[in-house]
Amino acid sequence: MMHGWPESDESKAMLMDQVRSFARNVVAPKAKELDETGRFPTEIVAQLSEMGMMGMMVPEEWGGAGMDAVSYAMALEEISAACASTGVIMSVNNSLVCYPISAFGNDEQKRKWLVPLAQGKKLGCFALSEPGYGSDPAGLKLQATRVEGGYRLRGTKNWITNGREADVCVVFATTDKNIGHKGICAFIVDTKSQGFQVAKLEDKLGINASSTAQLFFDDVFVPADCLLGKEGQGFKIALSTLDGGRIGIAAQALGIAKCAFEASKKFASEREQFGAPIAKLQAIQWFLADMATRLQGARLLTWSAAKNKDAGLKYTKEAAMAKLAASEAAMWIATKAIQVHGGYGFTKEYVVERNFRDAKITEIYEGTSEIQRIVIAAQELAELN
Ligand code: CAA
Repeated sequence: MMHGWPESDESKAMLMDQVRSFARNVVAPKAKELDETGRFPTEIVAQLSEMGMMGMMVPEEWGGAGMDAVSYAMALEEISAACASTGVIMSVNNSLVCYPISAFGNDEQKRKWLVPLAQGKKLGCFALSEPGYGSDPAGLKLQATRVEGGYRLRGTKNWITNGREADVCVVFATTDKNIGHKGICAFIVDTKSQGFQVAKLEDKLGINASSTAQLFFDDVFVPADCLLGKEGQGFKIALSTLDGGRIGIAAQALGIAKCAFEASKKFASEREQFGAPIAKLQAIQWFLADMATRLQGARLLTWSAAKNKDAGLKYTKEAAMAKLAASEAAMWIATKAIQVHGGYGFTKEYVVERNFRDAKITEIYEGTSEIQRIVIAAQELAELN
């Protein structure tokens, strides 16, 4: 059950009923197979597209569903509770690809790229990190060389979610590495462009059904009209995009945590030891109480960040807090969920084993927990001035 406040809005409640039913009846039954095979959930993404879930916050005139960020967070939590891989596929397309084109693109770019992305006819990826530049992207070195009619891109990107399947890549490159973040530009690249290569696919601990790719740009020509925003604006586009992305990953983490928590309650009510369900034991009740409290605390932070975004207020700090709290809650809850399940929780027969593996990445991608703390502290200190 969702809890009170944003869902009191009738249209949100209807949306959530629809998404919850889809997540439980269509996505969840496939999650184990998707985790085991690493198969991209093509048919689920197609259905999510029909439901407007791949471009949820994009205005309707640009092919999206025109919904707010709170609805997005709530929907993403439900989908991720069923399958965290599907959750991140959805999150990247919405937060990291549709958003920057919607916020910084011109009308022609929106018509050409945003409409099919928001409709789910195309899938996007976001390429910022490089082998040597993860937490510190200001130093990135993928080179953008100005040529007649546009740019040529050369270099390598790492850890790119959706990199194997993406039709469109929002990529960050520098025209002049000597001027740090001021040389960074954002480009919209068609992945069918000559020289665009999926160089390597990562074999991972979790979120197996979403691809994580290393991309190589081998002198990829990008027409000038694919520059997103202005030259030198790329770093700010990346960081402001990640502010919204962090709300998405917080919601994904909430979904993983919710799944582990619900499984723990059910297991504790059914599993008997010492002649009674283990839910009667105070040790287990304390686990459940702490799980519920951490989950709801993180959920309220996530909704609060989303509400700020919807209200047009600053949300850099709030999104970082939400992502930090939700990812750490997910990891903690998934760990305790295995403890509640005992030996059963260590087997692949129970969902909590997958929750535990899937939770870990939420503390890493779109900014590690340590980066979130840097962002939060910087914002707090800036408020002194
Ligand atoms: N929005 C817009 N602009 C921002 C901003 C924000 N949130 N934060 C900072 N800026 C601006 C600053 O105002 C500053 O502008 P001026 O130079 O004009 O004053 C400029 O950006 C540089 O700011 P900083 O000096 O604070 O930047 P920094 O280099 O010290 O970096 C950081 C700050 C917080 C550490 C940042 O680098 C960061 O967030 N790192 C983590 C990166 C990350 O999340 N990577 C994940 C990649 S995506 C992914 O995971 C892949 C996937 O597929 C899921």
